[in-house]
Amino acid sequence: MSQGRGYADLDEIAQRVERLTTLEGKALEAEEIALLGRKSGLITAKLKSLVKLPLEERRTYGAKLNELKVKADSILVHKRTATLGVDALLLRGADLTMPGRRRWIGAEHPVTKVVDEIVDIFRGIGFAVALGPEVETEWYNFLALNFPADHPAMDMHDTLYLDAPPAEGEPAGRLLLRTHTSPVQIRTLMEWPPPVRVVIPGMVYRNDAFDPSHSPAFSQIEGLAVDEGISFVDLKATLIHFAHRFFDPATKTRFRPSFFPFTEPSAEMDVECQLCHGSGCPACKGTGWMEILGCGMVHPAVLENCGVDSERYTGWAFGMGPHRIAMLRYGIPDIRLLLEGDMRFLEAVAGHAGEGE
Ligand code: DAH
Repeated sequence: MSQGRGYADLDEIAQRVERLTTLEGKALEAEEIALLGRKSGLITAKLKSLVKLPLEERRTYGAKLNELKVKADSILVHKRTATLGVDALLLRGADLTMPGRRRWIGAEHPVTKVVDEIVDIFRGIGFAVALGPEVETEWYNFLALNFPADHPAMDMHDTLYLDAPPAEGEPAGRLLLRTHTSPVQIRTLMEWPPPVRVVIPGMVYRNDAFDPSHSPAFSQIEGLAVDEGISFVDLKATLIHFAHRFFDPATKTRFRPSFFPFTEPSAEMDVECQLCHGSGCPACKGTGWMEILGCGMVHPAVLENCGVDSERYTGWAFGMGPHRIAMLRYGIPDIRLLLEGDMRFLEAVAGHAGEGE
């Protein structure tokens, strides 16, 4: 048998295989039998007679013939599944009980989840969301917030300064990466006269080295409420409401006196340790409490710096760190795990974060 004849056969078979795509119903069935029928199908017969060919020819001819058979099979399976669905798959011996391959479809990052939940709780009690720039001037980040001009936080050791002058119309002074979200208090009050109730999520930057509890970039959420007749009672009631919604309605809270230049009086709020529930464990250093935020009554000088009459208006503010809070909530021992994007870790925490919801 000459090679020429063999390949001419293949051309004809190829055309008939191709034509399968256009056939339907009885015509399709008949052509399937004519080509692939076990007894007298053309392709079947040719495959059977391969043994009679010389080795070299058997290889090339056989490979091409097999390719056409696979193609015909796949066209037929495709047509059947399209018209008959599951029955056709079963007919072809598919095991429908076999578990599918699991695809990683992604999940919310634990910090994003924490930020969204916190913001939602405050939106639920009438707070709006405000945002501000990550590149700030010394005035917004420090001076307007009542930091004295020589405050150590302004030192190069803590603050990342940029080597560029402020934009036109901005107050003079060095540009920096904001070290907290508090400058957005100033921007908000300068733009909207009271009453103001806002929460401000965002990233902040400090000249800190990485260690288990520090990172040069982390998130904060600022809160600010300014109106007539606002007192420390409003602050406590709102933040306790927040802790009960975010952690657990029975979570104990406490306020400790503290100091911030932009609030007077100032406090820090602790919640009962979420891991040991107050009995003392390594995560809370045996105290049974975890600090979650700083807060206080807005300093009158801050209100005046924004052109707000501090005789008429009072307000309170708070600042908390969602990275820290995510660590407390999910028992994550090292902040770097929340910043490195290791999918194995994120998958494990995402699974845990979804539990019981
Ligand atoms: N800005 C403070 C910090 O980064 C946190 C803070 C404390 C914000 C008290 C406030 C506040 O609004 O009232 O450490």
